[in-house]
Formats: sequence, structure tokens, C-alpha cells
Amino acid sequence: MKEDIQNAEDINLLVNDFYAEVMKSETLRPFFSGLNWEAHLPKMKKFWRFILLDEAGYTENVTNKHLHMHLTKALFNEWVLLFHRTVDQHFEGPRAEQAKTRAYLIGIGIQSKMNLLKD
Ligand code: HEM
Repeated sequence: MKEDIQNAEDINLLVNDFYAEVMKSETLRPFFSGLNWEAHLPKMKKFWRFILLDEAGYTENVTNKHLHMHLTKALFNEWVLLFHRTVDQHFEGPRAEQAKTRAYLIGIGIQSKMNLLKD
């Protein structure tokens, strides 16, 4: 049986593995290709520690960070599917479920603000 997400190391594994999967996707990769990974990965780890481990200090507006990107419903579905798969590959338990639910709901929130849900 797998363990649940319990600490910062687990978040590191989840985030590193997830973006390795994202970069294997021909459709998602272009959005991340010019990114400064040394800045992005720590931000994502801080974000997930804030969501899952109640660590203080993440203050960015995640939705706004995405509004300038040319995203579609299909891209969100793929992002969320890859994220769910990565979580399930390593973890099992309430925090693993919470991670998947939050990723899905934040995705819905961003799509709603971008008017993508009606397509
Ligand atoms: C098609 C789907 C998505 C794409 C292509 C995408 C792409 C990106 C990119 C390129 C950045 C870096 C922005 C920058 O620093 O300039 C970013 C940041 C971020 N994304 Fe997404 N994203 C997607 C969906 C999501 C979803 C569903 C979540 C929900 C958890 C999410 C959470 C974040 C967070 C937390 C940041 C960091 C914001 C910060 O602190 O600067 N993204 N995303």
C-alpha cells in the first residue's frame, strides 16, 4: 500500500515528476519551454506545501498568472489528468485526494475566468 503525502520531500517528488511528465507532452511542453525552471519548480513546491501542508507564505494569485496564456479546455483536461496520474502513481490517502481535487477545482476556476467552460 502507498503512503499519503506527508512532508516537503513528498511534495518535491510530486512536483518534479509531474513536470517531467508535462515536458513529455507535445501539447503542454510549449507553454513551459521558455520557463526558468530554477524559479518555477520552487514556486510550485511552495504552492503545494501551502495547499497540502498548511505552510504559510504563498500569496500569488494563481488564476491571474494564467490569463495571458492561450489555453483551451482540452489543455486543462490534459494537465489535470497528468497531475492526477502522478499523484496516484506515488500516493494514496486524504492529502493525495485533496491534491487532485484542488488541482481540478483551480483548473475550473481559471477556465471559468477565461470563459472556456462553455465550449
Ligand atoms: C493547461 C493548463 C496549464 C498550463 C499550460 C499552465 C502553465 C503554467 C506556466 C507556464 C506557469 C509559469 C508562469 C510564469 O511564471 O510566468 C504556471 C504557473 C503556475 N501554475 Fe499553471 N498551468 C496550467 C494549469 C494549472 C493548474 C490547473 C494549476 C492548479 C494547481 C496551476 C498552478 C500553477 C501555479 C501555482 C503556478 C505558479 C504561480 C506563481 O507562483 O508564480 N496551473 N502555469
